[in-house]
This record gives sequence, structure tokens and C-alpha cells, in this order.
Amino acid sequence: MTWQVEDYLEIKDGNLNIDGVDAVKLAHEHGSPLFVFSERRIRHNIDRLKQVGNVIGCPLKLCYAAKAMSTLGILRAVRDAACDIEVNSGGELWKALQAGFTGPQIIFNGTSKEVWEIELAIENDIYAIQVDSPFELSLIEETTVSLGKTANVSLRLVPEIKSDTHSGLQTALLTSKFGMMPDEAYAAVRKHADSRYINICGVHLHVGSQNPDPSVYTAAFETLFASLLRIFRETGQQLGHINLGGGFPVRYLTDDQGELDAKQAAMLAASFEPTDAIAPAWRSVQQAARNANAEELLDGLTLLLEPGRSIIADAGICLTTVRNVKSRPTASGGVDQWLLTDAGFNILLSMETYKWYYHLISAERTAEDHDVPYKVAGPLCDGGDVYFDIEGENRLPEYRLLSGSVSVGEVLALLNCGAYSLAQASQYNARFLPPVVLIKKDGTPSLIRRRDTFEDLISSDL
Ligand SMILES: Cc1ncc(COP(=O)(O)O)c(C=O)c1O
Repeated sequence: MTWQVEDYLEIKDGNLNIDGVDAVKLAHEHGSPLFVFSERRIRHNIDRLKQVGNVIGCPLKLCYAAKAMSTLGILRAVRDAACDIEVNSGGELWKALQAGFTGPQIIFNGTSKEVWEIELAIENDIYAIQVDSPFELSLIEETTVSLGKTANVSLRLVPEIKSDTHSGLQTALLTSKFGMMPDEAYAAVRKHADSRYINICGVHLHVGSQNPDPSVYTAAFETLFASLLRIFRETGQQLGHINLGGGFPVRYLTDDQGELDAKQAAMLAASFEPTDAIAPAWRSVQQAARNANAEELLDGLTLLLEPGRSIIADAGICLTTVRNVKSRPTASGGVDQWLLTDAGFNILLSMETYKWYYHLISAERTAEDHDVPYKVAGPLCDGGDVYFDIEGENRLPEYRLLSGSVSVGEVLALLNCGAYSLAQASQYNARFLPPVVLIKKDGTPSLIRRRDTFEDLISSDL
């Protein structure tokens, strides 16, 4: 066996089951590719993150990062688990409202907000607009004045904090596009100290996604506390929250994949409890507060977290069917067996952009040894639509191990692919966006997104 059975994934009669529901039957009923999510797992992950508040004894506001997966049925499951939400566009904000979130449950990030998006946020009295630049703050101010309402804002900072994640997922480097410099933040607080329209209520920082090293959270927390302290000393303003962002890693890689690039492997195999990152960070900040004789700054402080991946990634699998097989001679005189599936980078974009690893198993011969190597590829017209590293840099394994004699029609499962998959999907090659089944907390499967139809392929075309 080359994968770890999670409590919600098990093998029954040889087939993969998710929360007791046969994955192969689901694939036959709904067709593939098919995403299947476990509501129980979503709730488990949310409870796990909420432990952070209990462990450090500081009020915690947990906001699910909707960008990771925002099908309404998932957003509703997150809301029902008493979790708030982070959005990154007016569209996600609107979807959050459709899913039943109220303004005070919503925080809003983004580098390029437009006036209509800011208006939607202000009209709904959201908890905080996370301001990306002094320019954006002036745009928000103009909008508040014209609406005659106050906006709650949190200042997104960009100190230099390096994470060992993929370069495309780093967000706290001075070379990254996000946030404002600390000095710009202090100037903003001074400028708006007595404003009727701008209520600066917190500071924010997101180090990046899939951070392999828990110590980045200490660096982030210390940095934000230092900002809070300086703001307090310089302006007398005591801000109400610190938002440490998201980025907790999910273990995608569970076993040795031989020649894999070491940095990539370490990132994809990373895993730690959020409490193990935040508890030491909190202790360090408590010490800093004591040293500065400013413990009162921690009284009444709320800690915000906005994780996406660690809530939804391992709650979702993608079922795919083998649609074609072929053999190819190799340069070394051997023969490669190729499997062509119906799940390509149109629905698993990270596999192409970041060479993301999703563990592949047979869903209908799950208990059999997976020891036969195959080259695996998706259905798209690009040579890069493959499950290995087409650039030859070993960021993905060259072969996937499955049972012997895989043939057309066999249902396979890609594990841990609930995050940044359907959310980034496209109809490239006019392929239908896939359906989604949520296994509800009572164990019943519910279709929460139907497969696209021919009509969906042209519904926006004029
Ligand atoms: C500002 C912000 N917050 C939160 C997240 C969620 O990160 P993750 O899904 O890794 O928890 C992201 C994603 O990159 C982000 O950009």
C-alpha cells in the first residue's frame, strides 16, 4: 500500500469508499471526472484549526479562504461548521452572501479591488477590507464618503518573510505584489486616526501557501505585533486584531518518490498541527509584549486565521476514468505503459503550473499492490498535460504506481485534491466542468454541482 488510509477513506469490497460511500459507484452514477468531498472531514479540519484559539487562550476568528474551493454546497458546509469566510473578489463576496454568510463574518483581500467591489463590502458591513496599498485606502475612503458609511479596514503588510514553498505561492517577500510597507501602514493610521469613515481595526499578513516550516508563523506574528506596538506608541490607537493569513500545509506526498527534487518533495510532504505553529508564535509575542511593558495590547486582541487548503484539500478526491492506453518504446530499450485519463490540467491546474503532486490510486482495486509503473496523462491537447514533470526537473515522479494490467474504463482516484482544483478549472478544449458530490455529515451523498452541459459551453457567448 502506498498511501495512508485516512479515517474517512477506507476500502470495502476492494473499492475505495469515502465516508462509507462507494467511490466507484459514484463515478458510474455521475460520470467522471468527478469531485467527491467529505463534509465530516471539512468539519474535522475546522475543529482542528479552532484548537488554536483554545490552546493560546486568545479569541480566534477562523475565516475559510473561499479561493480554495467555492462551490455553494461547500461554502454552506463551512458556514454550518461555524466558520467565517475570507474572499478575494466581489464575486467571491457575492457567493459568500448567497451561501448565507453575513457581513460581519466576511473579510476581503485582493490587490486590485474595484469601486463596485468596495461598495459591496461596505454596504454589507463586512468585518474588514484588507487594504493592499495607500492608494486603495484612499479609494475606500472616497467610497465610504459617497455611501455615507464607515468601512472597517485591516492593513496588509509585506515585510520580508521567506517561506520554502513554491515561489509562485510566496506572498510576503518585498519582491511580491502584495501589501504595503510598514511605514505606509503607520502613515495610514495617523492619517485616519479621527476619521468618521475609515475604521482601522487590524493588521494582516499572509506568508504564503503550503508553508513547510512552522517558524514562519512566529516571524509573522512578531512582525505584526511590532506594528501594533509602534502604532500604539505613535498614535495611541489600539487595534483590535492581528490576521496571520493561511498557508498551513497538507501532506500530499506520503511516501518516498525516489528521484524527486528535494525542495519540492519537502514542501509537498510537509505537515504540522496549526497549534504547533501558532502556540510558540503566541508565546514569543507575549514575551515581546512583556519586554515592551505593553501587555495591555494583547488584552482584547482577536487573532484571525484565513486558511483554505488545510480545510478543504484533504476533504476532496477526484475520480477519473482511464479512457485510453498505449505502449511506447523508451530510449533505454524498455517499454512504457501509458494511461490517458479524463482529468487534465483543466481541472487540476496546479499539476501543470506548480507541478503539484496528487497521489493516484485505483478506486476499484484499491487493496491490490500498487507496484506497476505507468506514465499517466490527461485528455488535453497540450504535451504538458501529463502527471510527470515534462520539463524533466523531477518536480513530479516520472511514473505512477498502480496495480497491473490497468485497462480502459478503470476508475482511479487522485487524493487530497479538494483545494485549488475546481476553483481554478476552465472549460479548455470545451471540456465540461465536472460535477461535485458532497457526502453530507449524516453520510448521504448529495450532488452539489451538476456536470456542465453543451449549453454551458456557449452560455456566455453572444
Ligand atoms: C491572502 C490569502 N489568505 C489566505 C490564503 C489561503 O492560503 P491557504 O489555502 O494556503 O491556507 C491565500 C492563498 O494563497 C491568500 O492569498
